[in-house]
Amino acid sequence: MAIPIYPHRHLLGIEGLTVQDMEALLDLADQAVEVSRQVEKKKTTLRGRTQINLFFEPSTRTQSSFEIAGKRLGADVMNMSVASSSVKKGETLIDTAATLNAMRPDIIVVRHHAAGAVHLLARKVDCSVVNAGDGAHEHPTQALLDALTIRRNRGRIQGLTVAICGDILHSRVARSNIILLQALGARVRAVGPSTLMPAGIDRFGVEVFTDMRKGLAGADIVMMLRLQRERMNGSFVPSVKEYFRYYGLDAEKLALAAPGCLVMHPGPMNRGVEISSEVADGAQSLIREQVEMGVAVRMAILEALAGHLPNG
Ligand code: NCD
Repeated sequence: MAIPIYPHRHLLGIEGLTVQDMEALLDLADQAVEVSRQVEKKKTTLRGRTQINLFFEPSTRTQSSFEIAGKRLGADVMNMSVASSSVKKGETLIDTAATLNAMRPDIIVVRHHAAGAVHLLARKVDCSVVNAGDGAHEHPTQALLDALTIRRNRGRIQGLTVAICGDILHSRVARSNIILLQALGARVRAVGPSTLMPAGIDRFGVEVFTDMRKGLAGADIVMMLRLQRERMNGSFVPSVKEYFRYYGLDAEKLALAAPGCLVMHPGPMNRGVEISSEVADGAQSLIREQVEMGVAVRMAILEALAGHLPNG
C-alpha cells in the first residue's frame, strides 16, 4: 500500500489539517478495516519501530485500540500509565518526556488532562506525537473514527445534519468533531443546556439549540456525549434524573430526528444519564461499529506518520 501524502510529523489536532489530509486518512482507514477483518492482520509498516502509549488519564478503548493498531503494523508497543509512573512521585511532564525521549521511541501517543500538554510535549521530543485527548481541547482520532463511521454508513458526509448533544463544554470529542465534520461539508448542531455550552460556541459556525427536541428535528446523525462529571467543579445540572428527562436520548426523542437517523456515542456511556439502553443497543446505533473503526483510524494515522519517523 502506498503511503499517502500526509505532510505532518505529528497529529496534534484536527485544527491545522487540510481537507485533503482528512480524506487521505479516511481512505487509508478504509483499507485498514479490510486488514483487520482478515485472519492475518499483521503488516510490516512499523517493523522495528517503538511506540509508547503515555496515558495520564484512564482509558479503555482509546489506549487499547492504539496498542492493537501499533501491533498490527508491526511496531513494538509499550503502555505507560501514570498510576505506575514517576509522575506520581512529582516528575514534571517535561522531565517525563525527556526521559522517554532518551529511550529513542519513534512514536509517542499521549493522553493528558491539560489542554495543550500534548503540543508542549511534541516540542520536547525527537519523535512523532499523536494526541489521544488533551483536556477539553482536542481528540483528533476520535473525530476521525466518527467521520469514518458516518462515511461508511451514509456514503458521504457532505450535506448531512449532525446533532452533537450533551456536555459540549467539557468535550474534546465535540470540538474535534465540529472542526472535522464542518470541513467535510456537514451541517453541525450543538445541542445541550446553556450551562454546558462553551462561551463563544457560535464562533465555531454551529447552530446552537438548548431545546433538545428542536435540535434533533430532521437530524441525520445524533452524536451523544457523556456527562463528564469528573471535569465539573460545581453544579452544572440539577440532577441526573432531570438531565435524562430533558437531554437524554430515548426512543421518543429519537423519533423526532430524520427517519433512519443513526446514533453514535464515543463511550464510555452512562446508560440512563445521556442515553437509554433501548437506543444504545437499538437498530439505529453505530456505537459498536465506532469501536471497530477506532482501530482502523489509528492504524491509518500510524501508517501516515511512518514516512516522517526518525531515520525514516
Ligand atoms: C472520550 C474521551 O476520553 O474524551 N472517550 C473516548 O476517547 N472514547 C469521551 C469521554 O470520555 O466521554
